[in-house]
Amino acid sequence: ISTTQEEEVVLPKDFVATLPAREGWSEPLVQYKKYWFRPRLLERTLIVKQAFVPRADDIILATQPKCGTTWIKALAFTITNRSRYGFDQHPLLTRHPQHVVPFIEIAGGVGANRPDIHALPSPRLLATHMPMSLLPLGTRSVGCRVVYLCRDPKDALVSRLHFENKVFPGTNLSMDDAFGMFCEGFSPYGPFWNHCLEYWRESVARPDSVLFLKYEEIKSDPVDVVRKLAKFLGVPLTEEEESSGVAQEVVRLCSFEKLTSLEVNQVGGVRHGDSLFMNNSVFYRKGEVGDWANHMSQEMGDKLDAIVQHKLQGSGLVF
Ligand code: A3P
Repeated sequence: ISTTQEEEVVLPKDFVATLPAREGWSEPLVQYKKYWFRPRLLERTLIVKQAFVPRADDIILATQPKCGTTWIKALAFTITNRSRYGFDQHPLLTRHPQHVVPFIEIAGGVGANRPDIHALPSPRLLATHMPMSLLPLGTRSVGCRVVYLCRDPKDALVSRLHFENKVFPGTNLSMDDAFGMFCEGFSPYGPFWNHCLEYWRESVARPDSVLFLKYEEIKSDPVDVVRKLAKFLGVPLTEEEESSGVAQEVVRLCSFEKLTSLEVNQVGGVRHGDSLFMNNSVFYRKGEVGDWANHMSQEMGDKLDAIVQHKLQGSGLVF
């Protein structure tokens, strides 16, 4: 999106300030169309909803934060650029996955050198945390492909709690507090289940346009997911690539172990506004399935499972 296009969007004066607000997370969140947002990010969402000009060959990686955005960015970038970059001289060896795929709506996402999304060559690989129903107008009608990645809500919550306490100065949330809010559907981009459900339904209705993935399935069979992703993105693995182990190479390069061993993912960071500095390392913690059990009781886990099960009932989506 060029700055000029964004500047042309006029939101009603103080619109975001008039929305219902609630405290509890590192800053008060505002509610818009049943979702909770950080005020600044909602403003950006509303602006890009109007200013963004989708292209038919855009690929949009959609997630809720802490569901594996960094991982899916790395995987999709590596798959779609594999004819351009060899594995031994790969951009991911020196650049953070978060920075090689820009967010549509998060301006500070890749620092001062953020590319003008509008000027990027096609096909563009872009990311978003926006709910399906708030995606920029036209993304559906022009036929952009969307890859949605979700995760067991219990692990997403644990990851969120750690991130919140680490990134936002002065925040010291307890598991009990975060759990209570999350179960009420009150979390950034929440209700968690609504965000998943909207993309899930779209993936069922339009499987050629929306691919629905789970963090857990990538963990259990990453090679298979790489094949699936490559096919969905229109660049299926060739027989030659299959026999030379390209999928395995992609998985290795994008693995938690490999990425966390690289300097670019250990030091440095990006400034967001005046008070927020996002260390590159903050996007990596444990990278495991089931870590929730180390941070909440079995009863809490069962309670959240029951809530989510109830909310997803009849949709065909299960965690
Ligand atoms: P944990 O906090 O459970 O470890 P996001 O990228 O959406 O912010 O999600 C961050 C979560 O994904 C963190 O989970 C992080 O450790 C995990 N993660 C980041 N890179 C990963 C990778 N290459 N493989 C697996 N998990 C990864």
